[in-house]
Amino acid sequence: MEVIRTPAAMHSLRDELRGQTVTVGLVPTMGYLHEGHNSLLKAARAENDAVVMSLFVNPTQFKAGEDLSTYPRDEERDLAIAESSGVDFIYAPLPDDVYPSGFATKVEVEGLTEVLCGSETSRGPGHFAGVTTVVTKLLNAVDPDVAYFGQKDAQQATVIRRMAEDLEFRTRIVILPTVRERDGLAMSSRNAYLSPEARERATAIWASLLETESVFSESGLDAALEAGRRHLQSAGITPEYFEARYPGTLDPAEGTGTDPILVAVAAKVDGTRLIDNILIEPSSTSRRNP
Ligand code: PAJ
Repeated sequence: MEVIRTPAAMHSLRDELRGQTVTVGLVPTMGYLHEGHNSLLKAARAENDAVVMSLFVNPTQFKAGEDLSTYPRDEERDLAIAESSGVDFIYAPLPDDVYPSGFATKVEVEGLTEVLCGSETSRGPGHFAGVTTVVTKLLNAVDPDVAYFGQKDAQQATVIRRMAEDLEFRTRIVILPTVRERDGLAMSSRNAYLSPEARERATAIWASLLETESVFSESGLDAALEAGRRHLQSAGITPEYFEARYPGTLDPAEGTGTDPILVAVAAKVDGTRLIDNILIEPSSTSRRNP
């Protein structure tokens, strides 16, 4: 496994790979790898000749007061995990090389980025502008055939798909299911912040989404959301949002009809902000675990 530290070195590597006509899979990450990241790496390994993982804690997607400075980092451990998952190349540029002085461009997806995590009372639309700008830069630098993202960040996945389609990116965007701990908690680098007590209480997030799904099939959407929110409250967790939306447009879901409904939640547990979601299929009673 080779570690590439500069955009220029990444471009030469890409030229070399192009000469060998290999297919390239990219897994963008901010590191502190867990099984969720690993599932993306394994899929990339299975489907491509060469696998690149980017490792970059992107400063522009954090707003002032968020956890940029304390975001968990352990490059040595990440490199060992990536290597054992069959990654060929790590692209780990420095912030000053990604955003050199004079950098003035923003890639912004409208509408989709102004709800849920993008609303002013949450991380704000600037968060997604940071994500789409850095993902554009990573896709340009690596020029992969396929890029892999997780359904855990459902809104991010929707926004990236929209951007790739709108801007005619030729990289295929693949979204893979959320990987969970045995008790249902969605894996996240931020789970490392949780005290044992908070970690235990955080299981209420996935449980509240399951509750929403089960009430939905019997009593409809409004009752289902109410039941989910109540479940969270009973664990002492007040959600930042707990909403039902259509996954492609992020428009509010009506609860009638047969289109799948995304129920998405963000909540702070003891100061740690966690997100999760479930995709409910109104036409069937079987559970899908996105
Ligand atoms: P990060 O939080 O490190 O996540 C990297 C990728 O792993 C994302 O596509 C995310 O959705 C996926 N992922 C995280 N937890 C997962 C889980 N439990 N199951 C499945 N996939 C999971 O998301 C980012 O980094 C950044 O915003 C990035 C896209 C790299 C841009 O900076």
